[in-house]
Amino acid sequence: MSGGQAQERRKTSFLHGGRARARPLQLVDPATFTPHFSWKKSGGNSAGGESVWCERISLSEIAEKTGTPTYVYSQAAIGGAYNELVTGLGALPHTLCFAVKSNGSLAILKYLAGLGSGFDIVSGGELQHLQRIGVAGKRIVFSGVGKTREEMREALRYRATGRDGARGILLFNIESEAELAALLEESAREQRRGAAVPAVSIRVNPDVQAGGHPHISTGRHEHKFGLDWEQARRLYLAHRDSRDIQWRGISVHIGSQIVALSPFQRALRRLAEYVSELRGAGIPLKYLDFGGGLGVRYTNEKVPARKDYARMVAQAIRPLRLHLLLEPGRTIIGPTRGYRGPRL
Ligand SMILES: Cc1ncc(COP(=O)(O)O)c(C=O)c1O
Repeated sequence: MSGGQAQERRKTSFLHGGRARARPLQLVDPATFTPHFSWKKSGGNSAGGESVWCERISLSEIAEKTGTPTYVYSQAAIGGAYNELVTGLGALPHTLCFAVKSNGSLAILKYLAGLGSGFDIVSGGELQHLQRIGVAGKRIVFSGVGKTREEMREALRYRATGRDGARGILLFNIESEAELAALLEESAREQRRGAAVPAVSIRVNPDVQAGGHPHISTGRHEHKFGLDWEQARRLYLAHRDSRDIQWRGISVHIGSQIVALSPFQRALRRLAEYVSELRGAGIPLKYLDFGGGLGVRYTNEKVPARKDYARMVAQAIRPLRLHLLLEPGRTIIGPTRGYRGPRL
């Protein structure tokens, strides 16, 4: 689509919003709000028309070499997004754990690892990706519903290729009682073979209205992701003195494509209450995993700046004296890709 055609499409409206009240969204040319992409005149073989450029490279020129469809990522945009979050968190002890499900390209994972990123995974396949690029276990958090026993074993035995040192990962985020039961059994068996006692957290459901798109909202009681507080507290207490796991954290992910700070603030207030209750009951927490969820602009949404979001999270966590884990996906990778399809 040329710049002129994009202008034309910009006038088009469409409906968006699922079960929520349908709200017209205006299509806006993304190049106008993604600074690493632009429309420019193409030279070379592109017959002098306009084409999309990523940083200083024309997507058409890349497509001529690689064929189509081709996806081009801006390294500067990925690094910029990552660093904005880090800057906003300031001196708060933290590990950013990029959500691998949002993009599993080895080149991108390697680049993020080089920036110091940790990783949030939801499958054994993602763990193998990280192993291949040498990510240390202490930078990996395992989230996701329905982890299989085999995947749990792989994570308990994990050691990055080419690295010595401790086996295992930083944290298992447990999403159900059945999953906890399986992890307890697998851990007991693996310990007999020399594995360490795994650090575990429960993904709680803070029952807050998250906003964002209704089909990817997970923070309300009816959404069934994570355990409600009564169930979670019962499990924390029942396994307080377990020899097969050690409680080290509490985690939450209230949904995706959230474009306001207030749902995050509500969830953080709830979490602060849970943390204080757990500490009162003698559960020694080290990590608060606040998941992902910050949205990106697709059309005319007004999205909070990453730095402001991170500052707000840091301010809420500081008094709790916990190590923050964040699992951003979309906010890091969403606005960084250009696509060049075939010319028909
Ligand atoms: C547990 C968890 N963490 C992190 C993410 C990444 O979320 P986002 O891409 O909205 O930042 C998701 C997305 O579904 C998730 O379920």
